[in-house]
Amino acid sequence: MLFIILTVVVAAGCSASPSKKVEKVNHFKFTADEHKPYVGFLIDTLKDERWYKDKALFEEQVKALGGQVKTLAANGLDDVQIKQAELLIAEGVDVLVVVPHDAVISAKIVDIAHKAGVKVISYDRLIKNAKVDYYISFDNEKVGELQATEILKNVSSGNFAYIGGADSDNNAILFRQGAMKVLKPLIDQGKIKLVFDQYTKDWDPKVAQQNMMNALKQNGNKINAVVAANDGTAGGVIDALTSAGLAGKVPVSGQDSELAAIRRILKGTQTMTIYKSIKELATKSAEMAIQVAKGEKVQTDTTINNGAADIPSVFLTPVVITKNNIRDTVIKDGFLSEADVFKP
Ligand code: BGC
Repeated sequence: MLFIILTVVVAAGCSASPSKKVEKVNHFKFTADEHKPYVGFLIDTLKDERWYKDKALFEEQVKALGGQVKTLAANGLDDVQIKQAELLIAEGVDVLVVVPHDAVISAKIVDIAHKAGVKVISYDRLIKNAKVDYYISFDNEKVGELQATEILKNVSSGNFAYIGGADSDNNAILFRQGAMKVLKPLIDQGKIKLVFDQYTKDWDPKVAQQNMMNALKQNGNKINAVVAANDGTAGGVIDALTSAGLAGKVPVSGQDSELAAIRRILKGTQTMTIYKSIKELATKSAEMAIQVAKGEKVQTDTTINNGAADIPSVFLTPVVITKNNIRDTVIKDGFLSEADVFKP
């Protein structure tokens, strides 16, 4: 509990801005400038590398648009995330932008916010079964399709393992759906045998490693390819393959273009990753958040049904990264630096 409180205080302390309105919440004060739109950013976790980029870029963009922003991360705990929503609402946020830990439990955040007249934007991950106001993400089913397609370019038959994300995250369901759309015809033809198929609690690389060790054990090490849902899980899978002397011999997918993953691709132990421009996501979300905060009209492209309503949505395009296009994509875009990637 102490850890949680400290996390909240530290996160809040990072982004306080000068003030007119002073709210006293629990043991610490936050001061908000009532002339500036106030955006609350609730992140599930800062465990995966990408969320640091989301936080930094989103905050930068909100400020550039004349807003003020506070980010709180919930360390993967649903009740903490709900408490953080209450906290920001009590402080007078004009809009909440949420990366939910649990797609269903987070519906409560929407209820609480709406009761207080605060609109909610679902960021990257969809909040389900609540009338969330907007959703912005990537084409997540497409991510799964791209992962499986790239793996098939390397191995197109034999024993396949699917190492998924957290089943509490709607994206993990979509990544799997996309991958299965590509694999299913080959499974039906008997060319591919799906010998292992599991989600990974909280996207934890250690859990993915353990699952992969089980997959290898159950199949006498005869696994020909692995579709892993992101770079964190891919890291766990590759650690398990390394212990079995198989790293580099079994194609493994990933997602997020984390530095460690790009280095594994160069080394030959990971086959591909997905690049999702966090800058584009953060920029578009910040624009959306400021428009919502000001009560302006928000432009969206499509809708997605989340079980409660058709949610106005924007979907950005994911890009496949292999050893052949690292320079032209993640480096060219400034997502990773040449020095970091190619450091000996
Ligand atoms: C995101 C991925 C990320 C994963 C784990 C998903 O919802 O879309 O980019 O790797 O969560 O944090």
